[in-house]
Amino acid sequence: MEKYTEDPVLKRNENNPVNRRDFISRSALLGAGMAAAPLMFANNNVSLDREALNPSVYRQRKRLLGTLEVSAIGLGCMGMKSGSYDPPRDNKDMVPVIRGAFDLGVTFFDTAEVYGPFTDEELVGEALAPIRDQVVIASKFGFDLSTGSRGGRNSTPENIRLAVEGMLKRLRTDRIDLLYLHRLDPNVPIEDVAGTVKDLIKEGKALHFGLSEVSPATIRKAHAEQRVSALQSEYSLIQRALENEVIDTCGELGIGFVPWGPVCRGFLGDKFNEHSRFSSDSRLTAVPYFTPDAIKAHMEVLKLVREWGRKKDATPAQISLAWLLAQRPYIVPIPGTTKLHHMKENQGALDISFTDTELKAFRADLEKIQLVGVRGPETVLVDQ
Ligand SMILES: NC(=O)c1ccc[n+]([C@@H]2O[C@H](COP(=O)([O-])OP(=O)(O)OC[C@H]3O[C@@H](n4cnc5c(N)ncnc54)[C@H](OP(=O)(O)O)[C@@H]3O)[C@@H](O)[C@H]2O)c1
Repeated sequence: MEKYTEDPVLKRNENNPVNRRDFISRSALLGAGMAAAPLMFANNNVSLDREALNPSVYRQRKRLLGTLEVSAIGLGCMGMKSGSYDPPRDNKDMVPVIRGAFDLGVTFFDTAEVYGPFTDEELVGEALAPIRDQVVIASKFGFDLSTGSRGGRNSTPENIRLAVEGMLKRLRTDRIDLLYLHRLDPNVPIEDVAGTVKDLIKEGKALHFGLSEVSPATIRKAHAEQRVSALQSEYSLIQRALENEVIDTCGELGIGFVPWGPVCRGFLGDKFNEHSRFSSDSRLTAVPYFTPDAIKAHMEVLKLVREWGRKKDATPAQISLAWLLAQRPYIVPIPGTTKLHHMKENQGALDISFTDTELKAFRADLEKIQLVGVRGPETVLVDQ
């Protein structure tokens, strides 16, 4: 497998004594287990010197989703083949990104049968086959794909089983480590969905159960039937509605929280600016927080993120991901990227922490910014 030796994070710290001092003090806080450095790892023996910036040490940085141990930042693979944001990429170009992520310590890979459909799982299966036993693969069911394209929601036991049989083939594996319900099917009670997944877990075809974009009430009902390990819903500095009950419900029940869209679909990675407009075939055209007015308003968030970036010698994407990690120890973001250099940059977020005082100051400034087109807090109390 391809190995990558040049680590931009390491380089940045070697060349920047201030940043290195910062890093040592952050590490010291971690070593002392102080809550002021809210990055918490399942295996917390992070060393205090520059070794801590090496890929082998990234590999030790783990978090728990329920009882499932994963890298503290995962890799979202949707954009590689789904054509959601950019045209689908060739496997030959994406396999090195996925394997490069593993080289840098990422052990948590996210896909779904609807991405493509099917082609994204095939890519992930191809890329991870040689390292299958060292990684956690998450995939999702919940749509009718019988025509070969995305139909309505379908979580009947028959369709879930059909989906899982297909996933096992496409992902070249004998078990799905984390099997999510992608969207709730209004015609199938959540208890029945959880019951079907419970049977699949008994059969060894799935190891953990996850949910996506459901309400706290649905999380509780599902969890009562089959332990839920993770909830995956959209959460970023811009889309914060989930802070209403959902994230705390996960904490209370010991469920991990996996933010999708953690860099706000590229916006917090400085991918767009106030002049950006999307073509009619781009999925972003329909996103209410990407209208021209909304983008203009959200440039204030980006400005704030850049300010923190200057203070912490970090990029906007790194600050955005580090902020998410700092919110709760059971949060595991899965930024999506098709670029190895973005993936490496995103992993650099693991070297940034915030004190409690900094988090309060950050939030106070964030809350002054008027957001446009984002979900209201009440929407997260209803299944999407
Ligand atoms: N459960 C659900 O319903 C659901 C819905 C959507 C997504 N997901 C999952 O969550 C994952 C992440 O969500 P997402 O892809 O929608 O949103 P995201 O991770 O917030 O944004 C992905 C976009 O950000 C860009 N990007 C990433 N890192 C960057 C960086 N450092 N600098 C500049 N741009 C950067 C990527 O472009 P480049 O390719 O150019 O880097 C890509 O266009 C997906 O891959 C998928 O696995 C789940």
